[in-house]
Amino acid sequence: MLCFAVFLVITTIVATTASPLYNDTRVEGGCTITSYSQVSNVVKSCTNIIVNGLAVPPGKTLQLDLKSGSTLTFQGTTSFGYGVKWAGPLIFITGNRITVNGASGSKLDGQGPHYWDGKGDANPGKPKFFRIKATGGSYINNIHLLNCPHQCVSIQNSNQLTLSGWNVDVSAGDRNKLGHNTDGFDISSSDTVTIKNSVVKNQDDCVAVNSGKNLHFSNLQCSGGHGLSLSIGMSKTDASKNVVSNVTFSDCTVTNSRNGIHVKTHSDAGHGSVNDITYSNIHLSGITNYGINVQQDYKGGKSTGNPTNNIPIKGLKISKVTGTMSGSNSVAVYVMCGSSGCSNFNWSGVSVSGAKKGSTCKNYKPSGISCKQI
Ligand SMILES: *[C@@H]1O[C@H](CO)[C@@H](O)[C@H](O)[C@H]1NC(C)=O
Ligand SMILES: *[C@@H]1O[C@H](CO)[C@@H](O)[C@H](O)[C@H]1NC(C)=O
Ligand SMILES: *[C@@H]1O[C@H](CO)[C@@H](O)[C@H](O)[C@H]1NC(C)=O
Repeated sequence: MLCFAVFLVITTIVATTASPLYNDTRVEGGCTITSYSQVSNVVKSCTNIIVNGLAVPPGKTLQLDLKSGSTLTFQGTTSFGYGVKWAGPLIFITGNRITVNGASGSKLDGQGPHYWDGKGDANPGKPKFFRIKATGGSYINNIHLLNCPHQCVSIQNSNQLTLSGWNVDVSAGDRNKLGHNTDGFDISSSDTVTIKNSVVKNQDDCVAVNSGKNLHFSNLQCSGGHGLSLSIGMSKTDASKNVVSNVTFSDCTVTNSRNGIHVKTHSDAGHGSVNDITYSNIHLSGITNYGINVQQDYKGGKSTGNPTNNIPIKGLKISKVTGTMSGSNSVAVYVMCGSSGCSNFNWSGVSVSGAKKGSTCKNYKPSGISCKQI
């Protein structure tokens, strides 16, 4: 009996002093991150991660380089401290075959009101919010992104990525026009990206495609911003950065925004190309400037009135764009093409009413609409 008791004591000592079977993070938190200091260890050792009520310190990126096949869930409020002026991003998620979910009631709070000054890009020091580089069949779902200080979501160098059920809410930035350049989703250098079933309330493009191919956007509800956009010509030297093809926007609404649809190529960029773009079943209301705006005269953030052919747009299909304009300068359709910059625009079912000024077209008239050639 005594012998057995001694044996028990000894085995207990051995078990507690031998090298641990589990890492501390696993034992204490079960791969749950509740403080910033845990982040790098947990993402290195876990593939099923919970981020619960995390406060990220000012000036730090929540860098989540996930192991292949990982699942990560945000719970509660993830907040990003304010205190320094910097470019961000506040969060950067990378990985292959990853799944990231926002749990019911969770949100990521960028604390935009601390940064907003009505100047946006013109006064640097506001961090970009959420950067993604995900590949191989990755999903990021049900993220509630609140009060982006600057651009909200930027997707770069991604492929086979799907975002669904996002709620990007920067509507508080409408107050006193303080929120500015708060783009919803910016996409560049990516292949096969789907963004669907999401809401964006902001003060710049709801979606802005800069480069990439096989991009699909559906069931988006956009309000307060600048519309569903393609903006091509970010590079003056590298034509491969100015290439966009096979982009579809379907079943979207754009409300109380500057534009409904906006396709712009930069006349001061190098060469590039835009091919096979489709907008279908887009409903507009309260659009103040342009229902549909295609312009090849964009330079330094402005329209010059001198369109160029450096980035031709071939195959812009628009079907069923309906709704209403508001505001004293509203124009339903505005097409400003270079002398040979636009071709094969097949439009049908464009019915946008309430514009105060007539539709105009320069150098090219799409089929299926009437516009005054200028
Ligand atoms: C513990 O962490 C180490 C180093 O990061 C890692 O190699 C090991 O696989 C982890 N062990 C467990 C059980 O997660
Ligand atoms: C266009 O992109 C969609 C969505 O990624 C894809 O399913 C389709 O096959 C692509 N079409 C072409 C012609 O590449
Ligand atoms: C234009 O689009 C319509 C409706 O989607 C289609 O029926 C027609 O074949 C297209 N025309 C051309 C020239 O592509």
